[in-house]
Amino acid sequence: MEKKKMYAVEATNLVKTFGKEHAVDGVDLKIPKGIVYGFLGPNGAGKTTTIRMLATLLKPNNGHATVMGYDLVEEADDVRQKISLTGQFASVDEELSGRENLIFIGRLVGYTRKEAKQRADELLAAFQLTDASKRQVKKYSGGMRRRIDIAASIVTSPELLFLDEPTTGLDPRSRNQVWDIVRALVKQGTTVFLTTQYLEEADQLADLIGVIDHGKLIAEGTSKELKASVGAGSLIVNFDNEVELQRASTILEEQLGEKADKDLKDYSLTLPIKEHDKAAVAIGALANQNVKIKEFSMAQPSLDEVFLTLTGKLPDQETDGVVNE
Ligand SMILES: Nc1ncnc2c1ncn2[C@@H]1O[C@H](COP(=O)(O)OP(=O)(O)OP(=O)(O)O)[C@@H](O)[C@H]1O
Ligand SMILES: [Mg+2]
Repeated sequence: MEKKKMYAVEATNLVKTFGKEHAVDGVDLKIPKGIVYGFLGPNGAGKTTTIRMLATLLKPNNGHATVMGYDLVEEADDVRQKISLTGQFASVDEELSGRENLIFIGRLVGYTRKEAKQRADELLAAFQLTDASKRQVKKYSGGMRRRIDIAASIVTSPELLFLDEPTTGLDPRSRNQVWDIVRALVKQGTTVFLTTQYLEEADQLADLIGVIDHGKLIAEGTSKELKASVGAGSLIVNFDNEVELQRASTILEEQLGEKADKDLKDYSLTLPIKEHDKAAVAIGALANQNVKIKEFSMAQPSLDEVFLTLTGKLPDQETDGVVNE
């Protein structure tokens, strides 16, 4: 029986404890179908634990959730039919070739030998792995490895795909390839729940971003909304020399009630701006007092700044792809 529900994931007060540790500490989620949900948080925030619960691999200690309309605990088998998971730690067989892995999975999900081969070749082509299709997966590069992992998880198109840090440790080119894959999947109607430690990734891909820290969802919104919650951004003003910079600094700090960040290498000042109008007034004040401005601009707040505002610290950036679980 197909259940009609608006949300791909609807969770209330999800809790997972390990001993005394609250890995996930009362998370509520409402994720509409057809979007990319970005779950953003630093190491140990609870991202993988949340995904593992939603993918029926871990039982919550508390709370309730439906995934694609099915109850996570009562209808776990139905949930499993609808979802696929690409883990932080890959699930393909290292000894087999990329093609053999995909055929094997195809057979597992009930394809005939011919269908499985056909689907494998289709995916290998789509993921630019045709040339490497006969090579053992253990001899793949990091980027190829990540692509075969994702290919393996979409042998049958899942309605909801969980991607746990799909680009951690990848170079920019491979990262872009993975992003393109995600965008293509969403176009075909798959809902994607993606965890990331990369602010840029959430910014680029996610329609809705949840920020998780210490097991708690501390903010949620579109990239634009999250950025807006930190203020309008920054005002950056450049001068020709230090004298002008110092004069301007005093005036701007008084006008805006914020501390100016001075860069004496390129004679620039940066100040946070709460409202756009204030920037114009502040620049006007400089002109009134005959301070010579070389140029000025407004910078949009970065997601780094959003995180800093929300948690008081920057998220740790993993770069080596080795992450504790
Ligand atoms: N099986 C486990 N046993 C004990 N503690 C665990 C287990 N799995 C996770 N934890 C703890 O729960 C917390 C959340 O871990 P989780 O793996 O969900 O974080 P994460 O956000 O995925 O981090 P990362 O970005 O490093 O992958 C961490 O403090 C972790 O040490
Ligand atoms: Mg994790």
